[in-house]
Amino acid sequence: MKLTILGGGGFRVPLVYGALLTDHAEGRVTEVVLHDLDDSRLYAVARVLAEQASTVADAPTVTATTDLDEALRGADFVFSAIRVGGLEGRANDERVALAEGVLGQETVGAGGIAYGLRTVPVAVDIARRVARLAPDAWVINFTNPAGLVTEAMSRHLGDRVIGICDSPVGLGRRIARVLGANPREAFIDYVGLNHLGWVRGLRVAGRDELPRLLADSDLLGSFEEGKLFGVDWLRSLGAIPNEYLHYYYFNRETVRAYQQAEKTRGAFLRDQQARFYEEMRRPDAAALTAWDRTRAEREATYMSENRETAGAGERDADDLSGGYEKVALALMRAIARDERTTLILNVRNQGALSVLDMDAVIEVPCLVDANGAHPVAVAPLPDHATGLVCAVKGVEREVLAAAESGSRASAVKAFALHPLVDSVNVARRLVEGYTAVHPGLAYLR
Ligand code: G6P
Ligand code: MN
Repeated sequence: MKLTILGGGGFRVPLVYGALLTDHAEGRVTEVVLHDLDDSRLYAVARVLAEQASTVADAPTVTATTDLDEALRGADFVFSAIRVGGLEGRANDERVALAEGVLGQETVGAGGIAYGLRTVPVAVDIARRVARLAPDAWVINFTNPAGLVTEAMSRHLGDRVIGICDSPVGLGRRIARVLGANPREAFIDYVGLNHLGWVRGLRVAGRDELPRLLADSDLLGSFEEGKLFGVDWLRSLGAIPNEYLHYYYFNRETVRAYQQAEKTRGAFLRDQQARFYEEMRRPDAAALTAWDRTRAEREATYMSENRETAGAGERDADDLSGGYEKVALALMRAIARDERTTLILNVRNQGALSVLDMDAVIEVPCLVDANGAHPVAVAPLPDHATGLVCAVKGVEREVLAAAESGSRASAVKAFALHPLVDSVNVARRLVEGYTAVHPGLAYLR
């Protein structure tokens, strides 16, 4: 089985390859093709993978190419993990928004819109090529903003593109852990958009255990979301929000903390990764050790300003190991080998969340088998959550419209309608500011 990874020179690729190395069963991935625009990044990552594979007998072969069409031909699965504009682009997404006094973040608010505007045209081009060159392939989209980008690709690939994120899985795992439940036996009742969802229940053997958590202050305050949002607020909501909702519920504090930070997250990662890729140019560098050190530092500092504003302290050691690669591997196995499972994924709604139309991509538990991912019907959201979900889906639709038509007015509308952008004038200045720094937005007229 052939797996093509787009953004194959990306920093997280060794996580995926590490997960593949644990799979020795019949029907596993035997061939990995890395695609990237940048040769030197491919070379760096290939070095790490070679060290990872050195002790594994049946390790999948790895080849690298900068030719997209060649990478796609014959692929059974395509992982799309690109970063249009690189980490410099991410740092600019943050900086321009924060200078206007609104949230600058990779996926949420103005920063997420800017990132979406430059990513959608590229993702659509990839989707069109997959439809032509590898029409039977399944595309697993890691590229952020994941919900929006998956929806853009689904217009060309239908249900053959599935978006993934590790945050709902991590959230479910944490809640199960504090409740003493086995995450494999628990059904997590979660729904929303990517980075905008809520856990409303956790059922074990048909019994909802969430009320027990909400009633117990010690338990509730003991894990990441309890520390971030505070026990009282979680109780008021009667649900556990995805950590990214911290940017909504505590917007003023997070914006201020991000403005005051020595470096934004994107700038920190830009500099950190520049050092890693530079180090990989040295022929004697210990690739895997250098990669792992860089990864550990990245994970330890994830959302550190948010945790600081909330007084949440350090991250729990159990939360540090990522989850993307595990979700991706579980999804691929379920489809390729009909190993039925339930995963929280980004797919077309198909009626699961009745306030949105059938084609809107949402994040929801799905039954996955050889026929793909099928969203499970879930209880409706409360009005306040429905309001946010509908507002942000409306923004995403304006981004898609702007990317398709090149209309600057649509881009302004996308920013202006976002709940975290507080004036149409700010939206206009954001479009000015972003088009000035991002060559990838030159298409907006
Ligand atoms: C979580 C999110 C991802 C995001 C990542 C950002 O895993 O679910 O969507 O890419 O965090 O982490 P970073 O280290 O890039 O700030
Ligand atoms: Mn995510």
